[in-house]
Amino acid sequence: MGCPYNNNYRPMEDAIHTDFKDDMSYGDYLNLGPILSAQNPLSDQHDEMLFIIIHQASELWLKLAGHELSKAVQNIQNGDFGHAFKVISRVKQILNQLTQSWNILSTLTPVDYLKFRDALGHSSGFQSYGYRKIEFLLGNKNESLLQVHENDPLVYQELKQIITQPSLYDVTIQALEQNGLSIDKSVLARDFSQPYQSNESVLKAWLNVYQNADEHFNLYELAEKLVDIEDSFQQWRFKHMYTVQRIIGNKVGTGGSSGVGFLKKALDISFFPELFELRTHL
Ligand code: HEM
Repeated sequence: MGCPYNNNYRPMEDAIHTDFKDDMSYGDYLNLGPILSAQNPLSDQHDEMLFIIIHQASELWLKLAGHELSKAVQNIQNGDFGHAFKVISRVKQILNQLTQSWNILSTLTPVDYLKFRDALGHSSGFQSYGYRKIEFLLGNKNESLLQVHENDPLVYQELKQIITQPSLYDVTIQALEQNGLSIDKSVLARDFSQPYQSNESVLKAWLNVYQNADEHFNLYELAEKLVDIEDSFQQWRFKHMYTVQRIIGNKVGTGGSSGVGFLKKALDISFFPELFELRTHL
């Protein structure tokens, strides 16, 4: 019997490009120079590299999730449910990927973290604008959270613009109305920068959609996709809170909050409250 691994050697092929003096390489296209030299630990602790990379990688995924969610809002506004489903499904997988990364961070022990925690000063994920952008796009509006971005005019302007625009849930409610379901004017003409409050007419519209799913199939499918997103988002919030508890117990956060207590309160926020409420009434 021959060894399946031959001689453990893969020869080069003649056609493989090797000269990038005047040609765009992989690293050129992806701008890997700046990206891979942006990890600058402030301590001499081995584990600070994990801490930096997990945050930077999360920020990239958050950036992509924001990019996709903005598209989903546009798609729904244009009545293009097919493309909205495609990007929303992608966002769900991005969120799952982000949740998975807590398992890597859990290998950081409290003792390891304390060795470099002081170096972080007051910096905290609470100041992540990529994350705040997603919360606003999904519909968790809270103007007081803009304050921490006042020192960065470009970021502040972008977040201010997103908070005043209809969220993914606002445009979904508009789609309910455009598809013949009755929605209170006060909801359709609401001040989008304010937190969304659950509304009886929206609940009734969703009940109608769920009870007549064949007639309103796109809306029904959209609703279940939104529930998927909230499910994945809550898992991220929960794993963050739980990992933080595992690492810092009940210490206050570097951002100044009460820490785990503050993070737990976020678990009570729903982007799409009627989609969960309706289940009781079916
Ligand atoms: C050792 C690891 C971590 C600890 C101890 C930690 C701790 C905390 C704490 C205590 C807060 C509340 C605000 C504050 O007072 O600082 C917070 C918020 C936050 N953290 Fe982390 N965190 C960790 C890792 C991460 C990672 C990897 C991310 C990924 C981007 C992240 C993203 C966030 C976000 C987005 C918030 C705001 C959440 C909200 O507004 O509800 N954190 N973190």
